[in-house]
Amino acid sequence: MQQRATKQVTALPQHVAIIMDGNGRWAAQRGLSRSEGHRAGVDAFERICEHAADLGIAHLTFYAFSTENWARPQGEVDALMALFRRQLSEAKRRRAENEQKRWRIRYIGDLRPGGLLPADILALIDEMQTESAMQNKTVVNIAINYGGQQEILHAAKRLAQACAAGERDATTLTEQDIEQHLHTAGQPPPDLIIRPSGEQRLSNFLLWQSAYAEFWFSDILWPDFSTADFDRALADYAARSRRFGGV
Ligand code: IPE
Ligand code: IPE
Ligand code: MG
Repeated sequence: MQQRATKQVTALPQHVAIIMDGNGRWAAQRGLSRSEGHRAGVDAFERICEHAADLGIAHLTFYAFSTENWARPQGEVDALMALFRRQLSEAKRRRAENEQKRWRIRYIGDLRPGGLLPADILALIDEMQTESAMQNKTVVNIAINYGGQQEILHAAKRLAQACAAGERDATTLTEQDIEQHLHTAGQPPPDLIIRPSGEQRLSNFLLWQSAYAEFWFSDILWPDFSTADFDRALADYAARSRRFGGV
């Protein structure tokens, strides 16, 4: 028993990934617009990101916008883009504060110029990533225009091209080759994936990387997600037995 109690305190995940879901239902419960739900979701993001970084979790990934979310009504997509724009501009203004926190901000997803993300947002992302590239305390990944299947397809295409060019031999490709072409290359896979809002699915999030992730689901809607909820997820995680196929 004693041993287990100690384990709960010390088994801190290296990488926690969160599917920030439930903004729309949170707003509907209050008679607010879905956009207002997304605004409250940004506050929750800031709260949890700050808390997790303070706890010393080295890698965080937040699912902000999926490749499937473009199917939403144009007004909602526009409101989300406006929020991303505002968030990025504010972060730019708070540059000194960011430097002090030593957060490296990375965006994962399809960020190709000429793609679906507006050019001005891509430029702000570029600036933010370049500015924080030297930081090393906490890596904060924001998944935007992100799809796990698209990410694996992209890696497969890159490897196929290398094989076609004679740079690689297809028979010698390994899992590491795929990993090196994912948006998360160089980072450990998520130890813990948290999904609030009552849904129990991945919705195309980190498909490759989640092979041995632990899952934590809760009915809480994302804007209501508290630091205590996050701590509960961590305590549950610490009590689990991860075997990775072994015994
Ligand atoms: C998550 O909240 C935010 C995004 C997907 C961008 P939702 O907008 O999906 O909220 P619900 O699931 O409709 O409540
Ligand atoms: C997943 O939430 C995507 C994000 C949180 C960004 P969705 O609300 O899009 O997922 P589904 O449609 O319920 O699976
Ligand atoms: Mg949802």
